[in-house]
Amino acid sequence: MSKKVKGMRMSTHLSYADKLILAPMVRIGTLPTRLLALDYGADIVYCEEIIDHKLIKCRRVENDILNTVDFVEIDGTVVFRTCAKEKDQVVFQMGTADPQRALKVAKMVESDVAGIDVNMGCPKDYSTKGGMGAALLQHPEKIKQILTTLVENVKKPVTCKVRILPKLEDTLSLVHVIESTGVAALAVHGRRKEERPNDPVHCDVIKVISESCSIPVIANGGSRDIIKSYSDIAAFRRLTGASSAMIAREAQWNLSIFRKEGKYPMEKVIRDYLRYAVEYDNYYTNTKYCIQQILHEDMETDAGIALLKARSLLEICAIWGMEDFCQNTLERRQKLIDARDEDRRT
Ligand code: FNR
Repeated sequence: MSKKVKGMRMSTHLSYADKLILAPMVRIGTLPTRLLALDYGADIVYCEEIIDHKLIKCRRVENDILNTVDFVEIDGTVVFRTCAKEKDQVVFQMGTADPQRALKVAKMVESDVAGIDVNMGCPKDYSTKGGMGAALLQHPEKIKQILTTLVENVKKPVTCKVRILPKLEDTLSLVHVIESTGVAALAVHGRRKEERPNDPVHCDVIKVISESCSIPVIANGGSRDIIKSYSDIAAFRRLTGASSAMIAREAQWNLSIFRKEGKYPMEKVIRDYLRYAVEYDNYYTNTKYCIQQILHEDMETDAGIALLKARSLLEICAIWGMEDFCQNTLERRQKLIDARDEDRRT
């Protein structure tokens, strides 16, 4: 993804046209999920929304044991972990209501990611009370300031993800404000702020937006209603006329929705997921949460009940017969840590 320009190494920009995209999902969109989505066929993967205030408090650490780049809070909590394998395909999504804070965050991560996105669709109180998420939709001037500041000062493509407004003409005028800022693409969740995930998605509205926009439109909101298998993704794109499709819930339940050959059984997805969770030392609590979503309606099974009781990555791995893999990986890592500490002492 890079080319030589006048003697400098320049990154080519990520294109959002004709792409299959893993949607941003709080707690779900951590590194193991993103890497597995890429393995299964996603072209672009969004991280979970990270609030600007939270990232600003972090420091960037190159983790030479895991070969990752970590953004870490003062107490050692990893807020965002990424690695070379996803560098050209990962989009960092932030929650923000302030152009300068947004820029500060974008500058902190821009060398480690392929794109920067601003969440303008979250309807939850914790977002809207701070003027973030869907609250921004009522303030086109603020949207313009945030996006213009990012587009003018960040070296990676900038996008945003919105919901639709009650009136079509208001939605279109908002979309045109967004387009005028120079963003690379626009993701549209085809529901209004008040609508719940089970309400039907407004494909017709996304279609009008797609027809009136010159930048790629990324259609979102099709899980359950429309998208249940890989071939449904093409149908969703046809119905919305959108260049690209972004999937959240169907991917949360089975990441292999991105496989054109068809979905894998749940057990295979869990084992593939666990490999990455162990390899990248994902928090066991987050790993547990993500597997609970994969088990979805099967939490009453023996595996589901054992998962609820698990208190470590090793215990989770044991449920799927992967304790040796986990144990060996942990031992190998400990040796690397010991060797590094020894080096530092001498
Ligand atoms: C979400 N969604 C979401 N959206 C966003 O912009 N940033 C986020 O961090 C999250 N977090 C999140 C967590 C979980 C668990 C779910 C299910 C959803 C919304 C999501 O990206 C998407 O817009 C909707 O779920 C609609 O798409 P689907 O599910 O119909 O494909």
